[in-house]
Amino acid sequence: MKSRNSLSGFLFIISLQSSMIPVAKFSPDEVSSTDFSAPPGHLEPLGSQNVKHSLEVINDFLTPIEFFKNYVYPIKPVLIRGGAKISPALTKWTDEYFLSLPESNDFNVTAEQRKKEIRTFPAYDVSFKEFVSTYRKEDIYMVNGVPPFLQKDVMLPPPLLCNDIVKDKLIDTVMWFSSGGTKSVLHNDDVDNINCLFSGTKELLFIDYKKYKKQVPIDFPSGGYSGVDVDRVDFVKYPSLENVEYFNVTMEPGDCLFIPYKWYHQVRSYDRNIAVNVWWKHLPDFVPQDCDMEPNQTLDNFRFSSLEEDASNSQEQEGFMGHISVLVANGQVGFREFEDKLKTIFQALDNDKDGFFSKHDVKLLENNSVESFVENELARIEDMIEDQMEDQMESNYSPHDEEKDEL
Ligand SMILES: *[C@@H]1O[C@H](CO)[C@@H](O)[C@H](O)[C@H]1NC(C)=O
Ligand SMILES: *[C@@H]1O[C@H](CO)[C@@H](O)[C@H](O)[C@H]1NC(C)=O
Ligand SMILES: *[C@@H]1O[C@H](CO)[C@@H](O)[C@H](O)[C@H]1NC(C)=O
Ligand SMILES: *[C@@H]1O[C@H](CO)[C@@H](O)[C@H](O)[C@H]1NC(C)=O
Repeated sequence: MKSRNSLSGFLFIISLQSSMIPVAKFSPDEVSSTDFSAPPGHLEPLGSQNVKHSLEVINDFLTPIEFFKNYVYPIKPVLIRGGAKISPALTKWTDEYFLSLPESNDFNVTAEQRKKEIRTFPAYDVSFKEFVSTYRKEDIYMVNGVPPFLQKDVMLPPPLLCNDIVKDKLIDTVMWFSSGGTKSVLHNDDVDNINCLFSGTKELLFIDYKKYKKQVPIDFPSGGYSGVDVDRVDFVKYPSLENVEYFNVTMEPGDCLFIPYKWYHQVRSYDRNIAVNVWWKHLPDFVPQDCDMEPNQTLDNFRFSSLEEDASNSQEQEGFMGHISVLVANGQVGFREFEDKLKTIFQALDNDKDGFFSKHDVKLLENNSVESFVENELARIEDMIEDQMEDQMESNYSPHDEEKDEL
């Protein structure tokens, strides 16, 4: 998922949705090279040469305030060993248990096809019971909100037990369920996330967003992901990935992982694999204050501002004008850069390349690849604005230091 909550609630919602909607295609035979001078790791799995850091591991969630101060606020991932052990799901969630629940038959979930993630592949609806009966045999996995009848088996991650969080910052829960062998694309999310594993193993690679945002090729920015083949990284096509450093982490059942806002990550799962994550809004300067709550509370006690609900509440305009109004409202992007971007978009819209955007072009526009191209370019403009806002915030923060550096 992908969103831009620092820009506007609207974009946040729209892009959350667009990330769940398939947006682009892998080209199956990317131009790959057999250049003998290719750098180490060329056409090998992502991170095969450059895992430089083992992710920090802690054995306890800490208090919410400490957890936010040490990890959420500084935007730093961390593994919480045993953090999921308080949830009954860890022992309770067998296939027999799922199949024994009468609700399983009446509740539909979304099954994704192809365990190697291809975001253009259509998902389909299937009853939870049907999914549990078939997931071991088929090339499918489940990505769905935790079904209501299972929410009582999962604790809200303890750092979120604060009134000023649960009141209005929880966004969604997602249950990930497969027989193992899933591989996600390299992507980032514009929310904070704690993911807890109840069965199987997961391996993740992380890339520091701040350090490498200029180098990680997010060629599908509206979905927040890279088209790089995670099994065969093509350094000819993606040369900027060559010197990127990775953090690795392996999750075992009972572990939880904090996946921070914007950090790039790629996930592989092994064996019968069930995880639940909780997404909440990322606020740059937020540390909770009001955390005197009863411990060990399960998900069914909380309200998550589901995406649909937020979208229908949203007053903002959709589509192109929505993007433009955000752009103008923030007024941060230089005219020259803006002009360049608009030129690119115009050129995409001017399908017949006659220098005019005309009826004829509109006809040709019934072409999804142009639409997703324009979507992606608009997302790039938003990224550009966001970068500039961040840079500006930083330079406001330490103007004196910078002046000294220049002397
Ligand atoms: C919360 O759950 C854990 C694990 O089950 C338990 O050790 C702890 O005592 C519980 N705390 C409270 C206050 O119930
Ligand atoms: C579940 O999905 C099937 C289609 O796969 C549909 O026929 C059925 O009505 C759905 N059931 C519910 C409860 O939405
Ligand atoms: C990273 O990988 C190394 C080597 O496989 C392993 O020893 C280490 O435990 C991993 N780090 C984490 C946090 O899982
Ligand atoms: C759709 O767009 C792509 C890329 O711009 C182009 O190659 C293709 O010919 C277009 N198809 C149609 C039917 O216009």
